[in-house]
Amino acid sequence: MILVEHLCKHFQIRHHHKNTLGVLQNFFKRDSRTLKAVDDVSFTIARGEMVGYLGPNGAGKSTTLKMLTGLLVPTSGRLEVAGFVPHKDRQAYAARIGAVFGQRSSLWWDLPVIESLELMQHIYKIPSARFSSNLEAFKKLLDLDEFLASPARSLSLGQRMRADLCAALLHDPELLFLDEPTIGLDVVAKERIREFIRQINLERETTIILTTHDLSDVQKLCSRAMIIDHGKLLFDGQLTNLQNQFGGQRRLVVDFEEIPSQLQVRGANLVVQQGSRLTFEIDKQARVPDVIAEISRAYTIRDLSVEEPEIEGTIRRIYEGNLLNKAVDQ
Ligand SMILES: Nc1ncnc2c1ncn2[C@@H]1O[C@H](COP(=O)(O)OP(=O)(O)OP(=O)(O)O)[C@@H](O)[C@H]1O
Ligand SMILES: [Mg+2]
Repeated sequence: MILVEHLCKHFQIRHHHKNTLGVLQNFFKRDSRTLKAVDDVSFTIARGEMVGYLGPNGAGKSTTLKMLTGLLVPTSGRLEVAGFVPHKDRQAYAARIGAVFGQRSSLWWDLPVIESLELMQHIYKIPSARFSSNLEAFKKLLDLDEFLASPARSLSLGQRMRADLCAALLHDPELLFLDEPTIGLDVVAKERIREFIRQINLERETTIILTTHDLSDVQKLCSRAMIIDHGKLLFDGQLTNLQNQFGGQRRLVVDFEEIPSQLQVRGANLVVQQGSRLTFEIDKQARVPDVIAEISRAYTIRDLSVEEPEIEGTIRRIYEGNLLNKAVDQ
């Protein structure tokens, strides 16, 4: 469905000198550098998949999505979606896709929402019967009735997102591109948007890519995650594999009856001791029951717990690692 090979988008950033001499320099010398917003990214996405595209600010998420939706022309690389080269055949392509850019609305600011939706019907040439049945369905799923008659500018962020999702889907697109669909929303509104996205993907089998800073969006919605930073794709796969590949070690916290001394355990390293509570890091290849058995042979255990490494921590380490690599590159 989506094929991306060695995709790059480079921006020329010009330096503007502000002092008098500098202003003259602006005329004579093009002082610029290249910013690699998307740098040699490759992936494929199958029909019906829902993929989360994660990355910190400025990572290149929106730039990728803008190329995928045909809004930006790639600097180099190959890009094909549903048989189209997005920026080349924009009109026919637009009929097949839906897009929501969370930071700006596709609705007309001063028109009542319902009139914006009716305009969409004309722009996308949606047959009346299909328009009505989709509108009815989305009204229910997204609870649109309370604000359909209000102008977009008066909507809350959550309401606007619901209206925008409806607008993006009225023409039954096969693909849906969502750029930060939950940004700025409270937990209840987030959950509602997530539920809607899940339903669209399941019931309409719409292929969905969503960008987000919010890991829980991906955990709750997508089995596959892609992580980008500084334009580079750092990971593409299941979140569980991310933990296996980059995750930290599990920790075992044990409370003993008495304070143990000189405790050496195969497959685990003591990292913290607070009185009779000891915390171990378990080697990745070690089995937790074996470690516990060995410890309990030496001392009496009162209580214990195993802590899984947090995925947030793993992702933070990936970003930080990438920063270090960058520093070495330069
Ligand atoms: N039109 C442009 N001209 C110059 N630089 C740009 C342009 N658009 C994006 N950039 C730069 O490209 C990089 C990637 O931007 P992009 O918007 O894709 O990031 P993002 O991952 O969506 O970040 P955020 O989470 O903040 O939305 C940034 O450094 C940004 O400043
Ligand atoms: Mg963005």
